[in-house]
Amino acid sequence: MQRVSTLILAVLLFACTAMAVIPQKETNPVYLNPNAPLEERVEDALSRMNLDEKIAIIHAQSKFSSPGVARLGIPGLWCTDGPHGIRAEVKWDEWDQAGWTNDSCFAFPTLTCLAATWNPEMALLYGQSISEEALYRNKNVLLGPGVNIYRTPLNGRNFEYMGEDPCLSATMVVPYVQGVQDNGVAVCVKHFALNNQEDGRHVVNVTLSDRALYEIYLPAFEAAVKQGKAWSIMGAYNRIWGQYACHNHRLLVDILRGEWGFDGAVISDWGGVSNTDEAIHNGLDLEFGSWTDGLTEGRSNSYDAYYLAEPYKEKIKKGEVSTKELDDKVRNVLRLIFRTSMNPNRGFGALNSIEHILAGRMIADEGIVLLKNDPVGKGKQAQAVLPISKEVKTILVVGENAIKQMTVGGGSSSLKAQYEISPLAGITRRANENHMSVTYVRGYVGDIGGEYNGVSTGQDLRDERSAAELTAEAVAAAKQADVVLFIGGLNKADHQDAEGCDRLQYGLPYGQDELISSLAAANKNLAVVILSGNAYAMPWLAQTPALIHAWFNGSETGNALADILFGSVNPSGHLPFTIFPTLEDYPSHQYGAAAYPGINNEVEYKEDLFVGYRYADLYGTKKPIKYTSDGREYTINPPKHKPLFAFGHGLSYTTFRITKAALDGRNVKVTIENTGKVAGKQVVQLYVAPRKSNAVRPKKELKAFAKVELKPGESKEISLQLTDEMFRYFDAEQHAWVTDKGTYDICIGTSSDDLPAQLEYIVK
Ligand code: BGC
Repeated sequence: MQRVSTLILAVLLFACTAMAVIPQKETNPVYLNPNAPLEERVEDALSRMNLDEKIAIIHAQSKFSSPGVARLGIPGLWCTDGPHGIRAEVKWDEWDQAGWTNDSCFAFPTLTCLAATWNPEMALLYGQSISEEALYRNKNVLLGPGVNIYRTPLNGRNFEYMGEDPCLSATMVVPYVQGVQDNGVAVCVKHFALNNQEDGRHVVNVTLSDRALYEIYLPAFEAAVKQGKAWSIMGAYNRIWGQYACHNHRLLVDILRGEWGFDGAVISDWGGVSNTDEAIHNGLDLEFGSWTDGLTEGRSNSYDAYYLAEPYKEKIKKGEVSTKELDDKVRNVLRLIFRTSMNPNRGFGALNSIEHILAGRMIADEGIVLLKNDPVGKGKQAQAVLPISKEVKTILVVGENAIKQMTVGGGSSSLKAQYEISPLAGITRRANENHMSVTYVRGYVGDIGGEYNGVSTGQDLRDERSAAELTAEAVAAAKQADVVLFIGGLNKADHQDAEGCDRLQYGLPYGQDELISSLAAANKNLAVVILSGNAYAMPWLAQTPALIHAWFNGSETGNALADILFGSVNPSGHLPFTIFPTLEDYPSHQYGAAAYPGINNEVEYKEDLFVGYRYADLYGTKKPIKYTSDGREYTINPPKHKPLFAFGHGLSYTTFRITKAALDGRNVKVTIENTGKVAGKQVVQLYVAPRKSNAVRPKKELKAFAKVELKPGESKEISLQLTDEMFRYFDAEQHAWVTDKGTYDICIGTSSDDLPAQLEYIVK
């Protein structure tokens, strides 16, 4: 008995000594407590980190990941492109795909299509759905959405953005951000800022007035930060006022953090950092993809050579810089980690689920724009080609884009989609259900490639026949068909809709213009369908009765297009940009190379505020507008042509009429009626037009919109609220938003060139 108690005493004594010697792990340190206030967790974690850990956490450890703090049990960040689906895995430090077999995804429509829905509910759905895919693939930071303004139709990356208007893109980006982040995945809003062209994107220096900056180019970013509460933002490649965007003091310190109160992390674009001192002091938090020696060759440890890695540490050790900036960066990164990879509410997500498929389909259905749909024939017999009538027996489909897989290519947004329904497949299935036959002929050969970073479509699109042979075949077939569907446009090859280079021409490539004209001459029942993220010349417009702009719609491309062509869905997409007849009609192309693509890498936004419809609205003005802004002279010559299709334009298979519009205080009440025979959705758009102003201002600007669904004969009243912000403009001298007193017209309609209802509002 005595032996036993001695033994127990010895064990207890050992345990007590051991407890005194071995440091005890805290059971619940503040930083690990998800219920503790975020800032307390951040400060607690920061206080426990040593210099090496702090340096490690602010730069990449691989192409798309950054480390956490393993010693403290803080996981790292895994980023993914974005913005239309979850990119395939790449090798640890190379762009080539890793060759996994479990890294595919659902491909959502491109962001131009989302913008064309003019429906914030679709943006929320998009965000929620894509973040579930990110969760499933274990990603914390989605590299998107992109909200750079559509300044020139030559920009190869316009398809990834949300169009030309700050109000439209700001309104659409907020629910996207919220949808993504509700699931504990961060957005990384890109490319901040003024990344409006791909040619020379790594070097161009953008100069513009503060008014254009604040009124046109920043609002969508500001909305994403202030209303959407974006957790991260991506610095652009280009320079602004001579300094690279990724470490641009004015953009990141003064505006983003100072004026907007951003508390997230600034992430560099991949390879966008080029200077340690600027990166330290000018607001960058996380460095990715730098082109240090050897990195592009895949040499290991190159990450230590990043601007915010060893070079930064050396400066701290030598006492050249304090650790103040470092601690701020670490705080921002920790905040991002706690919000994402350590977010206890993250679910497991889902990949290619039926919900995602339906979401993608709905977004595409709502984004496809019916640009033109004139009746064919005369008198009572006259009938529009679309939707394809039940009487039709034979359909001819012509064009490469009817069969080309488009989810692969285009740059960083390239995807390895689990499936992609081509237009031809979607049309054929629907036609067969309706007892119609479909014939396909190629018509033209465009881009036969189908590979990006080792992901391949597996398609063999070679066709050695001459253009004359292909056209002859198409024309002969067109003569036999009841209806001809031409499906062409751009693709994701270089110099089309693709990252890294701009388009070479405004017109459609590969001889499509001539082919469309020949088809129109062969069969009057022609519908032209263009897949593209950009505008294009349409020399054949008068010859075709029907025209659809169908974007790049990802996995559900063909099904959504068939919905519109066969009328199971009534089109309700509206253009998020203006389509002018020629390149020279675009405001950014009025001033020669100085305004685009730049001279000696200097690009000056000489069109200033007059982007898109703001410029088109000057049509008919007799004299040029001349003014000075920020000490710079501006001359805006009125456009020579009207747009072919105005910003906000989009037709339906039914007709609508605004029957009432009235002001009730600051509440604009609009009644709209479906006057046709089928149900449909319409976008009510509200523009504010100052009658007089102390400053030069665009004639009108979009300030609010709403999408409504109406049964045939149904009327609905919608309310749009006027706010102070809708009347103001940016005064660069005072560096403040100002509002002129006086009378404003409130113009309401369904396109920027169709605003039948006008109300008067007086700002006192
Ligand atoms: C692009 C970004 C992209 C990043 C990572 C860059 O080249 O500009 O948009 O997110 O690469 O792929």
